Amino acid sequence: RVLILDFGSQYTQLIARRVREADVYCEIYAWDVDEQYIRTFAPQAIILSGGPESVTACPDIRAPQIVFELGVPVLGICYGMQTMAVQLGGAVEPSTKREFGFAGVRARGHSVLLRDIQDHVNDEGHGLLDVWMSHGDHVTGLPDGFKVIATTDNAPIAGMADEDRRFYALQFHPEVTHTKQGKAILQRFLYDIAGCQGLWTTDNIAADLIQNIRDTVGGDNVLLGLSGGVDSSVVAALLHEAIGDQLTCVFVDNGLLRLHEGDQVMATFASNMGIRVIRVDAEDRFLDALAGTDDPEAKRKIIGGMFIDVFDDEAAKFENIQWLAQGTIYPDVIESASSKTGKAHVIKSHHNVGGLPEHMKLKLLEPLRELFKDEVRKLGVSLGLPADMVYRHPFPGPGLGVRILGEVKKEYADLLRLADAIFIEELRNYDLYDRTSQAFAVFLPVRSVGVKGDSRGYDYVIALRAVETIDYMTAQWARLPAEFLDHVARRIINEIDGISRVTYDISSKPPATIEWE
Ligand code: XMP
Repeated sequence: RVLILDFGSQYTQLIARRVREADVYCEIYAWDVDEQYIRTFAPQAIILSGGPESVTACPDIRAPQIVFELGVPVLGICYGMQTMAVQLGGAVEPSTKREFGFAGVRARGHSVLLRDIQDHVNDEGHGLLDVWMSHGDHVTGLPDGFKVIATTDNAPIAGMADEDRRFYALQFHPEVTHTKQGKAILQRFLYDIAGCQGLWTTDNIAADLIQNIRDTVGGDNVLLGLSGGVDSSVVAALLHEAIGDQLTCVFVDNGLLRLHEGDQVMATFASNMGIRVIRVDAEDRFLDALAGTDDPEAKRKIIGGMFIDVFDDEAAKFENIQWLAQGTIYPDVIESASSKTGKAHVIKSHHNVGGLPEHMKLKLLEPLRELFKDEVRKLGVSLGLPADMVYRHPFPGPGLGVRILGEVKKEYADLLRLADAIFIEELRNYDLYDRTSQAFAVFLPVRSVGVKGDSRGYDYVIALRAVETIDYMTAQWARLPAEFLDHVARRIINEIDGISRVTYDISSKPPATIEWE
């Protein structure tokens, strides 16, 4: 297992994902974590991330000294390199020139880390690497025992190593895909230098989780709120595998789901997998609660609050339940931790499980809390969930409630469901679904004039939205082919009574958001 100390870089999670993709387990701790946690974690290797601060300006932001005393290999990246340099007796200075973007790095000497890893060979026969740089400060003096292992025109010390102590440091970012050999470099560090084995595979993960769940739960019973989203679906499949009949799922149909979604959830989990799933038809409760409200945030609050009420009412009917399972995944853990204290691992999430009846005193079970989304998906497929479900586009918790602009009405939801289903069906038919990150229809409660056959229509408008994004923080509108959009628009207007116009949203994020509300 590998410990990643986070100095606040936007790439820290990427480092973790790259390590996991090399089938090696890792966790992210904040840079100022107590030494005792590092000792207990007993890492086989440590990676120091980059960070937004300057080593020269922030003398307090340093790795705990124990990092260099455990006798394990350490890899410092960017800020991590600089703090390693100053902590071990070297020197760092602010550069006159900030380096940001691509750079050509020349490997020097024959370090184990970079040996024979290159993108090109220059005229003098030296290997060159194309890398991604982003830094202001740079190392100007090597600590004792270190040698230069890489240089660029701007940074004579772009990489350094003390091979005896197995300390390595790079000024560039091996974790980003722009650094073409980044994967090879990280694998070299993990396998050849730290001696890690690639044991973090889907099969091993599944076997471990199942054993852990059995050990934790024993003969107790577990309740799970199943939404049909990826995370809760994978929890359901996993718990079913681990504890069979001790699992009961509650699926709340809030009337704001996609076409036939409720039936599909029941078919997959209840009929096919034999899981006990209680379907609660709560459409009326949700729509009644939403009537008259058009503010997006107010609608979100109502939907979230109503979900808890309905779920609690259902849960209260069970006598003999000891655990409540949730589909928390690793990015949720990191996020909720870092927003409070920055110490990802120290705080266990404080289980705010709505207002479940006090007497139930449910314990919280979060079997996916160490996994990234891509690991959750692979696990789901290996547990037998349909790939279509596991690789579905994200769907917001409030569902169609935030895709019907303004007040939510059943009539609108029914029209929107039909339009959305046509759009998604055709994306799949044209092999475009997996090439967009998220696509959906939005209902605009305004009327526009149209002619259908001989009669004049005066009906609602549907907007189609499709985006390409990696992190959902920024997004580009998807350049879908005009013939495709034409085909979808014709189908929607011809087949759905009540829609007379279709538009395509060409706003990117920012400044627009992905959803319309
Ligand atoms: P925006 O619209 O903020 O969306 O660009 C970014 C991503 O978040 C999803 N989203 C939500 N998910 N509850 C959710 O569970 C919400 O209230 C919510 N609002 C937006 C959105 O679908 C997109 O993937």
